[in-house]
Amino acid sequence: TTDHPRLLRKALPPSPQPAHTPLAMATKVYRASTTAPVNIAVVKYWGKRDAKLNLPTNSSLSVTLSQSDLRTLTTASCSESFDRDTLTLNGEDADVSGARTQACFRELRARRAALEAKDASLPKLSAMKLRIVSENNFPTAAGLASSAAGFAALVRAIADLYELPDSPTELSLIARQGSGSACRSLLGGYVAWRAGEKADGSDSLAEQVAEASHWPGMRALILVVSAGRKLVPSTSGMQQTVATSMLFKQRVDNVVPVHMKAMEEAIRDRDFAKFAEVTMKDSNSFHATCLDTYPPISYMNEYSKAAIRAVQMINEAAGKTVAAYTFDAGANPVIYYPEEESEAVVGTLFPVLSDRPGWKQPEAYKSLKAAVALGDI
Ligand code: DP6
Repeated sequence: TTDHPRLLRKALPPSPQPAHTPLAMATKVYRASTTAPVNIAVVKYWGKRDAKLNLPTNSSLSVTLSQSDLRTLTTASCSESFDRDTLTLNGEDADVSGARTQACFRELRARRAALEAKDASLPKLSAMKLRIVSENNFPTAAGLASSAAGFAALVRAIADLYELPDSPTELSLIARQGSGSACRSLLGGYVAWRAGEKADGSDSLAEQVAEASHWPGMRALILVVSAGRKLVPSTSGMQQTVATSMLFKQRVDNVVPVHMKAMEEAIRDRDFAKFAEVTMKDSNSFHATCLDTYPPISYMNEYSKAAIRAVQMINEAAGKTVAAYTFDAGANPVIYYPEEESEAVVGTLFPVLSDRPGWKQPEAYKSLKAAVALGDI
């Protein structure tokens, strides 16, 4: 939508290059570009049952912010002239040797190789080195789901480069191995990541619960109260939680299954009050297990807590539930609300937060009244 401040527009996607464009006569460079949006979970993924395959302890459910400016833009290319795989992230060389990136490369190459084996006329892209150039238009690793958009865009770009016929759900099996939450960003709207039961992870995949258009007017507001890197990265944080929190077992066994069921019903029935209650309870439950981790992990700051109080105030004043907060592994509140309540929600939140002493607007968002990314979902 265009009626909101479009603030985070550092990296606008260039017009996409057609796949398989020869850039030089001598050695062809094959190329594909794509963007992937962030997603914000309303039932949180936190905990791995298998760290190598990146299999979660519980199912999760998120909303993909397809219309927002929070995106990763990725170009994947390959050529016989490339002598090694490379990855450039926000203009800087990044490590490709990590197990997660390697797992994605390996799986995507295997799928391409299978196509090439069936059709000898296809160029042997699977044997060529890859060059990946990726840019986020929002702060990396600040609890804004950058790894979700990042690995989703990486997998989608290479799948496009290789012209793979795989569906988004099939590709989610690969993106999951890059970063768990990334598997959900390959699909739009309301997306469930089914934990699955199989040891090989072949049923741990993302599927769409409802399209974004199923629930017109659902809005997400991201308040950027901290653009710094998170104190405890998700991967190590969740492993500490699994290892030390007794509350976590209760969450996995008894809380999440109830939340998943209620959330899917709320979405099916477009029941905002129920959606909001489950969203807030699940965020509370996740952050409670973080605090129950030893040593404790605490992601929220005073602004996060002020946002929680403001949402409570807004709902009380409205006499019904018109806003829901949720927090990932960071301090930045994400507020879901129905579009018709924009004034009550946004109009109250900004003054409450920006009047607080010491409110510091992150440098990257100085042009904003308050730091925010807005969008239809
Ligand atoms: C709090 O997907 O970043 O955002 O699989 O280790 O890369 P890895 O973790 P990651 O964890 C995200 C956790 C969360 C909740 C969620 O998005 O469901």
